[in-house]
Formats: sequence, structure tokens, C-alpha cells
Amino acid sequence: MNAGSAMYSFLKMQLIRRDRRNLCRSAVALIAGIGLAACSPSDKAEQRAQDYLAKMTLEEKVGQVIQGDISTVTPEDAKAYNLGSVLNGGNSAPGGGKTASWQQWVDAADAYWRASTDTTDGGLGIPLLWGTDAVHGHNNLQMAVIFPHNSALGAAADPELMQAIGSVTAREVKATALDWVFAPTLAVAQDDRWGRAYESYSEDPKLVSDLGEAILRGLQGTPGSASFLDPQHVIATAKHFVGDGGTQYGIDKGDAVGTLNDIMETHAFPYEAAIENEVQTVMASFSSVNGVKMHGAKDLLTGTLRDEMGFNGFVIGDWNGHAEIPGCSPVDCPDALLAGVDMYMAPDSWKGLYENLLLQVKEGRVPMQRLDEAVLRILTVKIRAGLFEAGLPSQRPGVQRATLGAPAHREVARNAVRKSLVLLKNDNATLPFDPKKHIAIIGAGANSMSQQTGGWTLSWQGNDNANAEFETGQTILEGLSEKIEAAGGKVSFAETAAQLTGNPELIIYVFGEKPYAEFVGDMSDVMFEFADGPALAELNALKKRGVPIVSVFLTGRPLWINSHINQSDAFVIGWLPGTEAGGIADVLAAQPNGEIAHDFTGRLSFSWPSDGRGTPIDKNSKARVQFPFGYGLTYANAVTPMASLSEAAGVEKPGTQLDGVLMARGAARAPFSFFLGDSSNWRTPADAFLAESLAKSISSRGVDHKAQEDARQLNWRGSERAVASIQSQRHVDFTNLGDASNLNLTLHLRVDEPADAPLFLAMGCGDNCGGKIDIANRLAAMGNGWQDVTVPLTCFTPQGLNLAAVKAPVILETEGAWTISVTDIEITKGKNDCR
Ligand code: BGC
Ligand code: BGC
Repeated sequence: MNAGSAMYSFLKMQLIRRDRRNLCRSAVALIAGIGLAACSPSDKAEQRAQDYLAKMTLEEKVGQVIQGDISTVTPEDAKAYNLGSVLNGGNSAPGGGKTASWQQWVDAADAYWRASTDTTDGGLGIPLLWGTDAVHGHNNLQMAVIFPHNSALGAAADPELMQAIGSVTAREVKATALDWVFAPTLAVAQDDRWGRAYESYSEDPKLVSDLGEAILRGLQGTPGSASFLDPQHVIATAKHFVGDGGTQYGIDKGDAVGTLNDIMETHAFPYEAAIENEVQTVMASFSSVNGVKMHGAKDLLTGTLRDEMGFNGFVIGDWNGHAEIPGCSPVDCPDALLAGVDMYMAPDSWKGLYENLLLQVKEGRVPMQRLDEAVLRILTVKIRAGLFEAGLPSQRPGVQRATLGAPAHREVARNAVRKSLVLLKNDNATLPFDPKKHIAIIGAGANSMSQQTGGWTLSWQGNDNANAEFETGQTILEGLSEKIEAAGGKVSFAETAAQLTGNPELIIYVFGEKPYAEFVGDMSDVMFEFADGPALAELNALKKRGVPIVSVFLTGRPLWINSHINQSDAFVIGWLPGTEAGGIADVLAAQPNGEIAHDFTGRLSFSWPSDGRGTPIDKNSKARVQFPFGYGLTYANAVTPMASLSEAAGVEKPGTQLDGVLMARGAARAPFSFFLGDSSNWRTPADAFLAESLAKSISSRGVDHKAQEDARQLNWRGSERAVASIQSQRHVDFTNLGDASNLNLTLHLRVDEPADAPLFLAMGCGDNCGGKIDIANRLAAMGNGWQDVTVPLTCFTPQGLNLAAVKAPVILETEGAWTISVTDIEITKGKNDCR
């Protein structure tokens, strides 16, 4: 995880920074009589900001610290509420659709600008700042170049390339007249089960730091030089501070647990270099550190980030991230501002939040001084970025349609693809292949812009994009075909092995993960698929052809694929390469004269597991590592054929052993696990009996049924909606247990403390899938002591429960202060009506 050297430099950098600030302070002290000391040029910006601040009304100040999403903020709203900022979230673009034209983006920028700078109402007319993710290129635009996701860039490990990517991204964002990006992500992902692992460059803090620093220089320009925040550059955001990549079990929005020192050394480390390079904004994380939600963590947001690390820009919250703080809601949360969030990201909640915050300042619950401080920071950044002089967006230099997807930009992305590919296996010099031959390209992934670009592309999840929706780029198939056809070879493409006709001399099989973003990508293990999975079936079928097979695996993170590697002669990790997938053909194909065109240079920036369990491994792991950090073959060194890899996954396919027992003696039965949840995190693992949800709204402990601690008591505090559940990350087929009309969910339980509130029992099959009923009356009708509560599945199936794909067979949910104890839960047989 964190080498001693990382710790050393983290501490050392802190010391240097502290020295510098002390120097600055003593200078201030020395010349105090002759006015303000200029310790850095940005102090001038701060002085100007002070002048504006002095003239602002309370309403203007409150508006300045709030950001809404363009899907719910009209330019008139921005003006009426003096909003300091808008964003377009993953699913929003001007006009609502993901295919907004360049003109629509620029028109929208003009409209918000005009509204914010209009002074006819007597206001100051402070220009509004528009933020967009741009996490791998200007990713909400179909005309933009989409770069490989960060896990790929970690494998390329090339700071110069990173800087080039940063400056191309900045130019494309500026071409649409926007000024701010929510990138780079500086997460140091420690657990590949995390759905955002692909947004992380590496498991190694030093590498994340180096690459983050380089892309930052590309985005913002080099501090101290004329390029810094000039019209070609954007304001960047280091996110998500802090510990986003260190949550337990890789749960998104989860909890990083450990000594503060360890957490800081790993996860705060890359922020040092970002602050050195004058990153202008830092985004607070949705996640918690030792149970404290980051949006409310004053020690870390103010104490560490500002006072110790010297950050002097502003802190932006994440998407209603303030609502994660216990006691807060999207529209009401003074706590976040008080803790150190300077601007709320309140996409749909901005209006209510504005009204509440205004009141809270008036009533003195939020000190004016803290509001002033936040406003001052925001204005200072706007001034540094030249916003007050920039003028109408559409009229600015660099605002041009032709910049988007420019050939030179595409070349940078293609180069990034070439450099990020990692070669894991190359028996019998299968690669590079001779492009003059007849090559079969197999797999739907070979011709899918959506699969190769992944999440955060055109839409939030990126899973709904047709090839025709991309105006720039090439699929893997297109890139390969171009190369092969130019050399006089022949291409046969088929989505499946069964559709392949003819007699190719080589097969290239492209497969991998389907797009996802954030928590949607969380997994409970790192199994790409089980032994009966579709990709393995394809590989087995292709193998029968008796020609060499090259596999290209598209993935955001290390997943267990030993069996797939065994079935392939050559194996390449293609990551999520983005729109310029021609870079894959550049490396895989030899030149027509047989010489190597581009060798492999990519090296794993994440340790690759030898089993599918998913419990974290890293550089220092002695076991469970198949390919270590830094691994990657070249054409020259891949000489010895690879021995067959172990096919023991260490994870059993869920449902294979299903006998209807879901919980026995208080413990969940595999493949299910026990979870407690509340608004802070709906799925906190709670295998141990003594456990609590993140906002402490529900807790559990061991109690005695027939033996010592063979039952689990659930105690709802009654403070908010909270749930206890039994879940599997994967869908489990219940149909082999029988027909739903003849099955029941039976809980052996005892009511310890009833409440005057509904208690829902639910069965779930994924997002918006499942059914629930209130069992409060059934429980009230029961006497004291241990009893069976039997609910027929026909109570759930009409509401949409799909028995073939159950994820959460038991969910108990209430807002009331119930206490119940449960020992066994089973699917039982017998015909009952749902009453
Ligand atoms: C993500 C951020 C992102 C923001 C705006 C959040 O859900 O966590 O990384 O910048 O949305 O799209
Ligand atoms: C938005 C994303 C945001 C996410 C938060 C989505 O609807 O489009 O930008 O990150 O919600 O969960």
C-alpha cells in the first residue's frame, strides 16, 4: 500500500509547506505597518475579491455558495437567486438530450453568463462559473475526444502524456465556453470491488500523485507561468477528498477505516502535489472516514486540507453530498458549510437550500464570518481564472466548434491507448499479427463505442450509447479493419463464435465489462464471470477452430480471468480505451514488412488477483497475486510459453447450492450476507452481530434463542428510515425452489419492542425491482416470544418481484423505533393467500 518512502515524502512536503507559510506570516508581521504583504500574486486576487465582498448583499452571498444543475436552473433562476455556479451532471446537457450541439452548449453558456452579469436589478453582476465533469475528455459531448479511463492511464504511467491529455481536455472544454472541470480524480483505489476503481490511476499513492500533478498542469497550466489559468486552461478539481478509494469492502460512499495517519499517508498524499500545483478547487467525498461523513468532517476539510496542507482555493461539495451528513437533507445542511464546504453542489435542491441557508445566516446559526470566508474563496478563484474579464462566452478566443475532436487531439488519445495496453501473455509470438492474413474479429465488444468508452460518457452510466451517437472516434473493429485492409489482409467480423464463417488464420476476441458508474459498479467479489459464463463459452467454441486466439479484455479494473487467459494464446488488457481505439490495432498489428510497429509499454498500476474473492491485494501482498504491480510483457521478453493458471476461483457461483435457507442461527447463509443501512450508506456489511449503520440509525447485537447468541437483535432508533437486509451482489435464481404460488418467506422472530409505525418486509431484485408489504399488523397480532411470521411470495410477485433474479431476499425497513430479534429465515412450501 504505502511504502515508507511515501510516508516520508508526505511528511516532508507538509514541512516544506508549513515553512513557506510561516515565512509568509512573518513577512506579514514585519511589514504590517506598511500594508498587506504580497506573499503570492494571488493575494491581489484576494484583495479584489474583498472589494466585491464588501459590496455584496446577504442574498448575493448566499447565492454565491450554491451550485445547481442546468436541468433545474434556468438562466432566470441563476439571476434571481444570484447563483455562484451551475453544473451539468452526468445526465444533463443543454436542451436535456445527450446529443446537444456545440452551438447549444455555447448558447447556454451565453445565457447563464448574461443572466449572472446583468446588473439592471442593482446587483453586482458576478459572473457565474459553469462546472462539468470532463473526467476523460469533455465527456458529455458526442463531438469530443474521449480518453481512456484513469486505470488505463495508470498503466501508461507517462506524465508527459498526462499533461498533453490535460491540455487537450482544457481546450475542448474551453471550446464550449465552460471554465471548470471536476477532474482529476485522485482516488487511490485499494479495493477493485469499488465501482469507481476505473477512475483511479493506481493503487499506489506516488503514481496517483505524479500522474495527477501532470494532468493538472495540463488542465490549469503551469503555476507561475503565463499559461496558468489563461484562456486556454480551465479551473480543475482534485476529488474526492479524502479516502474515497479506501472504503471498506470497496463500497461506494462507504467508510474508510483505520488510523488517521495511515488513511492520510495513502489517500491525502496525491493532494500535496495538487496543492503545490495550485489546484483551485477540491471536491469533498461522499464517503466517510472512520464513520464521519466527509462533508461534515471539519478536522479534515478545514484542519488538514487548509490549515495543514495549505489549500487556498475553494471546496466544492459532491452531488447532494451534504445530505449524507446525519441530520442533514438536500435542502437543509448548515453543517457542511460549517465544516469547510465552500460551495454546495445542490443539483435539484438549490432553491430550498438557498432559502434555508438565508434563514440560518439571518438567525445566526451560520456565522456571517464563515459565509464571507466561503464567498471570498469562490470570488478569488473566479478572479484568478480571469472570469471577470473574460466577457461573453461565445466571443472568447478558442470558442470554436472545430476544436472538438480535432485531429491533433485524437492523436493524443490514440497514443494514450497504445501506451496503456498491457500484454499478459503471448505464447508462440502470436502477436504482433501479420495484417496481410485473414483475421476474424469476434465479440460484440469489438464494435461497441459504448463498451470501449464505459461510464461517464455522454450519459452518467454510459450504457445507453449507440455507435451513431459518437461523432468522433473508431471502434476496435474499425481500427483493426483499417490496418488489415490497408495491408491487403481480410477481416471477418462476427458478434459470436457461432456466426463466424470462413477459415481465418487468427482470431481476435474482444470481451469485457459493460459500462457502469459509481455505486452501480460495486461488486462483492472480482469474478468477471463463473465457469459457465458466456465469454468462456465463446472462447471454448473458438478454440475448436484450431487457430491462435488473441483476447482483448475491456475492463476498468482487475477482475479474475485466469480461465480466459488459459484459453487464449495471447492476452491483452485493453482497459476502457475511449473513442480512439485505433491505438489497439497500432500495437497488435505488425507492419506489413513484419516489423514491430509499436511495442507494449503498459505496466499494471494495480496488482492483478489470482482468485476471484476480491479482498484487497497490493504491491506488498505475498499471496493471491497473479500478476504483480508493474507487470507487463513486451514483444521481446514474452518468450517462454505461460504455464496454465489456476482455475480455482475461491468464489462459489451464487444459487448453485440454494436450498431455501437464507439465515440460520442469526447468520446469513452464503451467497447472501447481512447488511445494515440508512441514508448515509444503505449497505454497510454487518456479518458480525455487533454492528451499526453508518449514521447509527440501526444497530444489531447477538441475543440468545436456543443457544448462546444464536439470534440477531435489530434495534431501529426511529430517527430516520433504516434497513436490515440480506443481500447478494449478484442475482440469484430462486425458481428451482418451486412455483411462487406455493412458496413463502418465513421468519422465526420475536418482537422485543413494537413501534407505532409501519415495518416493511420486502424482497428485491435490483433497482426498482421487487415488492414490499407492511407486516406491522401481523406482528401486533402475534403474542410475545418466538414465533413464525409467514408471508407468501404472492405478496411480492404482483409488484414485480422476479424470482429468477433475486438480489435481496429479505429487507426489513422502518422509520419507527422497532426492536425485533430474528434467528432463522427460510423459503418454505405451502399455499397461502396474501392478505
Ligand atoms: C460524483 C462526482 C461528480 C458529480 C457531478 C457525483 O455523483 O461523485 O465525481 O463530479 O457527481 O457529476
Ligand atoms: C448525475 C450524476 C451524478 C449522480 C449522483 C446522476 O443523476 O447525472 O452527475 O453524479 O446522479 O448519484
